[in-house]
Amino acid sequence: MTRIFSGIQPTGTPHIGNYFGALRNWVALQEDHECVYCVVDYHAITIEVDPTALRQASRNMALDLMACGIDPQRSIMFIQSAVPEHTELAWILGCVTSYGDLTRMTQFKDKSAGRKFISAGLFTYPILQAADILLYRTQGVPVGEDQVQHLELSRRIARRFNSRFGEFFPEPDPIVGKGARIMSLADPTIKMSKSAGEAHYIGVMEDEKSIQKKIRSAVTDTGLTAGEEMSPGVATLFEILELSTEMLGDTSIVSELKADFGAGKLMYSHLKDAVFENLMAVLRPIQARRAELAASGKVDEILAQGAEKARVIARENIAKVRELAGLG
Ligand code: TRP
Repeated sequence: MTRIFSGIQPTGTPHIGNYFGALRNWVALQEDHECVYCVVDYHAITIEVDPTALRQASRNMALDLMACGIDPQRSIMFIQSAVPEHTELAWILGCVTSYGDLTRMTQFKDKSAGRKFISAGLFTYPILQAADILLYRTQGVPVGEDQVQHLELSRRIARRFNSRFGEFFPEPDPIVGKGARIMSLADPTIKMSKSAGEAHYIGVMEDEKSIQKKIRSAVTDTGLTAGEEMSPGVATLFEILELSTEMLGDTSIVSELKADFGAGKLMYSHLKDAVFENLMAVLRPIQARRAELAASGKVDEILAQGAEKARVIARENIAKVRELAGLG
């Protein structure tokens, strides 16, 4: 069974773009892979965050993951800093990482732009990411398009380690899931994201009334005549409808409404109602599970167990790395 690793930053509640683009794939991969899922708090401190808020955000993200369907019985789920071997391996891998390669990381360029203080950690972030992945001798990494460059660097790091110290790490392959890249409903020319502001995303755990309001006020167009190309706002609504109905197992409404659209007689209010109903049918059970899990008060215990399982693998692999590298 191949091993999968992925990480997510504890940056507040996930939106439906995160859910359809990534988390849903994480859940599906549990069926036939050994999955290791990590809330990456060491990565989160590369920029300034409030410590109390961070600790809470990490636990909240773990609850969100479980509510979305990550099963801590089947998968290993933990908070990164509970397994300090991540940072030990990061140091070692830093010594087989090319400085020049790091300077080419577009995420560093984006994230450092406009900052007064740019930490060295922000620059070496991709080394820690490689350590996350390689520590478990991972074969597959479900990631979005934006992480493909980091993953390519992880592969290069694995190769350089192997050629310098001896074959040990598999080169991890990216698993780019059925790439749902959902656009903002308030401005369908930009990607759905939290950083763009409240109007630009729908949270997985968001209140039903608030979701309804955002869908109702989604940007469309003034109505197209038959045969005209779909505007980006309408396309986004159709995409959310398609993703939701796929999960629910009956996409017939999509073909119906597309036929109406093609004939130039689709009422956008009708489309929006369908989007709302079907999306809520996906989100309601997730939200209910989230409430249940939070009330159970078990998250710390579950995370401690996950960290223990992760450490068993991490300790074994770091011991081998130390031996290969002549350390200790
Ligand atoms: N850099 C990833 C992001 O910003 C998060 C991450 C950290 C990650 N470590 C990872 C993703 C390891 C995949 C594998 O989304």
